Amino acid sequence: MSKILRIGLAGLGRLGRRYAENLARSVPRARLDAVCSPIEEEQQWARDALAVSRSYADYTAMLADAELDAVFLVTPTSLHAEQIEQALDAGKHVFCEKPLSLDLPTCRRVVEHARQHPVHRAMVGFVRHFDASYREAKAHIEAGGIGKPFMVYSQTADLLDPSGAFVKFAPSSGGLFLDCSVHDIDLARWLLGRPAAKRVYAIGTVAMYPPLEAIGDIDNGAAVCEFVDGSMAMFYASRTQAHGHDTHTDIIGTAGKLSVGRNPRLDRLEIADAYGVRSLSTPSFFERFSEAFHAHCVHFVDAVLDGTPFDLTLEDAAEATRIAIALRESRQTGQPVAL
Ligand SMILES: NC(=O)c1ccc[n+]([C@@H]2O[C@H](COP(=O)([O-])OP(=O)(O)OC[C@H]3O[C@@H](n4cnc5c(N)ncnc54)[C@H](O)[C@@H]3O)[C@@H](O)[C@H]2O)c1
Repeated sequence: MSKILRIGLAGLGRLGRRYAENLARSVPRARLDAVCSPIEEEQQWARDALAVSRSYADYTAMLADAELDAVFLVTPTSLHAEQIEQALDAGKHVFCEKPLSLDLPTCRRVVEHARQHPVHRAMVGFVRHFDASYREAKAHIEAGGIGKPFMVYSQTADLLDPSGAFVKFAPSSGGLFLDCSVHDIDLARWLLGRPAAKRVYAIGTVAMYPPLEAIGDIDNGAAVCEFVDGSMAMFYASRTQAHGHDTHTDIIGTAGKLSVGRNPRLDRLEIADAYGVRSLSTPSFFERFSEAFHAHCVHFVDAVLDGTPFDLTLEDAAEATRIAIALRESRQTGQPVAL
């Protein structure tokens, strides 16, 4: 393979455009040669803003482009599994945004499909693995800095959107735990050394978006997870924070504790005035993780070109879905769920 990875990107929505900008402008050894979207204006944007030479309305047509080595998928979640399989069948490496699928048998099918394609490789990107602070935490744990880690608290909490726009997408998101806590589940497994999950219990409420009740979803949820080695995790997810996007994680070990992102401040500015001392908050996941979104593209491109392992496996992505589904089931039934 050439020492430039020739990439086609599918999906140019809210997040896909950010990927397109990163791949076109600033990921070393990557070249964004093609895009795919069923929406002509989105293709036009890529041609105009990024000078992408080829654009496709149809994903299979892009996969037939012999001048592409890899595809990036930033498409709706319901398409991920099949599009990963199609990319592998077409002889492309594939990077896919999280989650792999909302359905466990489908996750397992993709894992098996990928096993049949040892040459071309697939990765599901969980962006927090590539955030500098989370990586530093992981390295500190591996160096024995907090002794044996046995407890993770992790939350994903979004800024309240008074328009409630997200409610429209909620039915296809898999619900709060599959959409948001899947990140925290993946983090907890990673930071605790990938123990097997044993049992979960989850609760939730509709604090501010009543239309969620009709579709059986919640806007705030909490859960506990026990692992077979005795380690534990607690998760909190929310769509209703008044102050901003507030994602943070604590890892507690026998000889210390690490906290990542405890103060969700936007920057290093501190304002002191007649109202007190304060900072502005991070408005969304993108400001918080914009560097990490870039870093995981770099990781994928380097791993494919240099033949080095991905930090994350498809099995990790399937396991995150499995645990998130168990949280949803526990919340809906009111019972603990054994895994
Ligand atoms: N890691 C994170 O923190 C994070 C945050 C937001 C979204 N996501 C994930 O990113 C994915 C995309 O989310 P989004 O918010 O950008 O969605 P979006 O709806 O804004 O964009 C989806 C895009 O896919 C395109 N599309 C639809 N069908 C297609 C097809 N058949 N072939 C090619 N393109 C097609 C649409 O035209 C659109 O451009 C989702 O899976 C979501 O879970 C991850």
